[in-house]
Amino acid sequence: MKKLSIIVLISGNGSNLQSIIDSVEAGQINGQITAVISNKADAYGLVRAKKHNIDQRVVSHKDFNSREHFDLALSETLTLLNPDIIVLAGFMRVLGSALIQAFERKILNIHPSILPSYKGLNTFQRAIDNQEKEHGVSIHIVTPELDDGPAIVIGRYPILTDDTISDLQGKGHQLEHRMYPQVLRWLGQGDLQINADTIMFQEKLLERPIEFEYRETT
Ligand code: GRF
Repeated sequence: MKKLSIIVLISGNGSNLQSIIDSVEAGQINGQITAVISNKADAYGLVRAKKHNIDQRVVSHKDFNSREHFDLALSETLTLLNPDIIVLAGFMRVLGSALIQAFERKILNIHPSILPSYKGLNTFQRAIDNQEKEHGVSIHIVTPELDDGPAIVIGRYPILTDDTISDLQGKGHQLEHRMYPQVLRWLGQGDLQINADTIMFQEKLLERPIEFEYRETT
């Protein structure tokens, strides 16, 4: 089976990127990361990519006077690299619909909430403020509407009474760092197929997101 060519888009630390790099290097994903692209030149994720000899690129939104021009530049880079899948991993720019449509069904995002609840920013604070009992992480297909595309996998974790934002972030990361590699593993081995109107998982129509198990750490 052909290796999945993966591009990871980041803006910051890149801990999700690291989890994907580690899984690829461990031979757990039938794929390779062909490039890491950041909209910020000082993103630590670029250092991670360099350490692992992965092509790193910067397409800075500051170099363009409109989102359309930024998107166009990013789109050109992506077109040249021609990936099978584009993984947004802490990429903090909203992409325009022209770019998203040009790479329809090829862009995945990881969002720190149980979608469709808590789209947008500050999800941890909002969940705490609302005294939610659980929160989570979703990996979803990117569509032009923000955080709105169909979720493929959801991981849930409990919110305890004294939990702070950083506690929730920690729980979320614990899930995220296993979820993205798993989704890419499924894609690489053909277990997961994202078609025009359907998502197929192990030859069955995926009618609701796959639930990903949270593991309590001590
Ligand atoms: C992740 O926690 C993800 O939920 C959100 O941005 C964060 C990026 O973290 N979209 P990192 O850069 O992968 O460490």
